[in-house]
Amino acid sequence: HNKALPNAAPDRDYAKTKEREEAAAALASVRQQLGKTYLPLINGDRVNAPNIVNSVNPSNPSEVIGKIGLMSVEQADQAIAAAKSALTQWRTTPAGDRANLLRKAGELMEQRRHELSAWMVLEVGKPLRECDAEISEGIDFCRYYADEMERLNSGVNYDVAGETNRYHYQPRGITVVISPWNFPFAIPVGMTVASLVAGNCTLLKPAEVSSVIAAKFAEILVEAGIPAGVFQYIPCKGSSVGSHLVKHPDVNTIVFTGSQEVGCQIYAEAAILQPGQKHLKKVIAEMGGKNAVIVDESADLDPAVAGVVQSAFGYSGQKCSACSRVIVLEPVYETFVNRLVEATRSLNVGVAEEPSTQVGPVIDANARDRIQGYIAKGKAEAELVLEMAVPQTGYFIGPTIFSNVKPDAAIAQEEIFGPVLSVIRAKDFDEALAIANGTNFALTGGLYSRTPSHIERAYAEFEVGNLYINRGITGAIVARQPFGGFKLSGVGSKAGGPDYLLQFLEPRHVSENV
Ligand code: NAD
Ligand code: ALA
Repeated sequence: HNKALPNAAPDRDYAKTKEREEAAAALASVRQQLGKTYLPLINGDRVNAPNIVNSVNPSNPSEVIGKIGLMSVEQADQAIAAAKSALTQWRTTPAGDRANLLRKAGELMEQRRHELSAWMVLEVGKPLRECDAEISEGIDFCRYYADEMERLNSGVNYDVAGETNRYHYQPRGITVVISPWNFPFAIPVGMTVASLVAGNCTLLKPAEVSSVIAAKFAEILVEAGIPAGVFQYIPCKGSSVGSHLVKHPDVNTIVFTGSQEVGCQIYAEAAILQPGQKHLKKVIAEMGGKNAVIVDESADLDPAVAGVVQSAFGYSGQKCSACSRVIVLEPVYETFVNRLVEATRSLNVGVAEEPSTQVGPVIDANARDRIQGYIAKGKAEAELVLEMAVPQTGYFIGPTIFSNVKPDAAIAQEEIFGPVLSVIRAKDFDEALAIANGTNFALTGGLYSRTPSHIERAYAEFEVGNLYINRGITGAIVARQPFGGFKLSGVGSKAGGPDYLLQFLEPRHVSENV
C-alpha cells in the first residue's frame, strides 16, 4: 500500500514574485514585534517567571528577538499538577475530536506560514527556504498524526464464536516534551501533537535559544482550542528545571530530541523509581549523528557534489541529519574533492534574512567556539582544503573542508554540529562501508553509485536509520521518509512513521465470554 500523506503541505515557491513579496512583508511586520516578553503558559494562564532571558538573532546578536520567562521548579510542580487534573477530561475526549484539533492547528500554521518562517529566520538564523520547509513539516505532522490516531482508535478485533476479544489503546498519561533549537518548529510540533492526539496531557519545554518560535506554536494550539492544563508551554533551564521534570514521579513519558550527552542523562534519570511513583517511565530519545555519504567510482559526480554540499552546509551543518563525512573511493578521489571545493566556494555566506544567503550563522557563541575548536583540531590531524571567509556581525563560521582525514580522527568521529566536512579516502567499497559504519551513531547515510551490487549491499549493510541513495541525506518528509536512528543516535520509533504514535499509547486487551 502507498501510505504517503495525501494532503501533504507544499512549500512556497520563492521564484514567484508574490511569494517573495509576502515573505518580505512578514519579515518587516515581525521586526516591528521584536523584544516582547513570552511567559510560561501554566493551566491556561500566562504566569510571571522568576528569570527573564533574551533570545537574540544569531546573525546580529545585539537584536533581541524576545524576552523569555524561565519557569521555576515550584512552577514546574504546579504545571504537573494542572496536567494531572486535566487528564481525566482529555483522555476521554473522543479521538476524532482530538484529531480535529490538530487539523485546525495545521490550518492555522498554514495561514501564518510566512510569519512563522520570519520568526525562525530571525531567532535561529536559518535561511528562509529551510524555514518554509520546516513549517510544511509541522503542518504534515498535525495532519498525519491526526489520521494515524483515527486509524489506531479502531483497535483490533480478535473475536471467536462465543467470545469477544478486543485490543485497544489508551493514553499513557503525562508527557514532557524536551526539544532542541535546530528544528525549532517542526520537532517540538511533531513531538507535542503526537502526544496530545494520543490523549496525553503534554508539557513543552523548548530549547532556551528558540523559545519565541515555540511560543508562537503555543499561541496556535490555544487558538485551535486546546483546553487549559492539557497543553502547557514551559520554557525553563534544561539542566535544572528540565531535569527536575524528568525525575518527577507523575510523568509517564519523556520525549526528547537533542544531544547524545543529554539524551543519555535523561534515559538514566528517568529509569530511577521515585518515591510515590507507581509506573515505569518511557523515554523516546532522538540524538546526534556522524553521518557519512559514500561516493563510489561509478557515481555521477554532478548530483554527488550538489547533494553533499547541500547536506553538509545546509543550515550551517546544524542538522542531526547533516553529512559530516564523505567517503570517496580512490579512483574518483582527487576529481571529487576538487569539484566539491569549487562548488562549496560558490555558496553565499551571510545574514539569514538576506534572500540570497545559502549559509547563515551558527546558533550562538558557545557553538561558534566549539566548532572553531574542532577546526583547530582538524588542522592538526588532516589537510585543510577550504575555510571560507565570514561576515563579522554575528556568530559565523565559514564552510570548512578537510581532506585525507583518518577514519578515527576526532573530526571524523565526534558530532561537530557545524559547517565542517571531513573527506575520507577508501581503497574499495568494503573499506568505505566499514568506515561509514565505524562510529557510535546510526542516523542518516548516503550512497552515490551506479553499481547495482553496491546499492544492494548498502541496503543490507549500511547501518543507519535513514539511508538515501543517489540524493542528499537531509530533509526527510513526513510519511515519506519516516525519520530516526539507532545505536547512539537514539531510541524510539521513527517520527512521521506508522509506529510513532504507539509510543504514547498503552495497549489493553479485554476478553468477554458472551
Ligand atoms: P541539547 O541536548 O543541548 O538540548 C536539547 C534540549 O534538552 C534543550 O531543550 C535543553 O534545554 C534540554 N536539556 C539540557 N540539559 C537537560 C537536562 N539535564 N535535563 C533535561 N533537559 C535538558 O541539544 P541541542 O543543542 O538543543 O540540539 C542539538 C542536538 O540535537 C544535536 O546533537 C543533534 O544531532 C540533535 N538532534 C537530533 C535529532 C534527531 O532526530 N535525531 C534532530 C534534531 C537534533
Ligand atoms: N528530519 C530532519 C532531516 O531529515 C532532521 O533533515
